[in-house]
Amino acid sequence: MPYTEANLVKARATIARYPFAKSAVLPLLHLAQDQDGWVTPEAMKEIAGLLDLAPAQVLGTCSFYTMFKRAPVGKLVVSVCTNVTCLVMGGPELLDSLRLRYGSDDDVFVEEVECIAACDCAPVLQVNYEFHGPLTPQSASEIIDEYKRGERTPRTISGSPTNAPLAPSAVVG
Ligand code: FES
Repeated sequence: MPYTEANLVKARATIARYPFAKSAVLPLLHLAQDQDGWVTPEAMKEIAGLLDLAPAQVLGTCSFYTMFKRAPVGKLVVSVCTNVTCLVMGGPELLDSLRLRYGSDDDVFVEEVECIAACDCAPVLQVNYEFHGPLTPQSASEIIDEYKRGERTPRTISGSPTNAPLAPSAVVG
């Protein structure tokens, strides 16, 4: 979808902060993703127009970063680490259990990721880039269900804070 009027104002203000317009491609992709829940082809074309880039250049940037989703992913992106420390601490089993439980849930997108730099909390996952760990399959699904029931306030799927306060227990040190 194209930017809303309010987001178009934000996009133009963002572009104005950079000496070269094309440097604003990442924040504009985040803005589009926050608006629609994913980066639509229409948004990429609009961004290309705003930045005087070819649509393929915007697509190339968007497809390089896994945090940009080019298809709908629902409201919660659950990123489960299976890298070395999490691997030995049960990350693959955590991933399998969450894929099984939420595989047909349109609100929850479970993905496998490389080390997310929270090895001391292994096995760890992020929900919309908010860290949780160490977890068992049961404690992970309890947390995800709390988000689903509105008992925790998720960030946007780009990880931007929402206006509502975050649950203090949602962040691990
Ligand atoms: S190995 Fe999982 S957070 Fe580092």
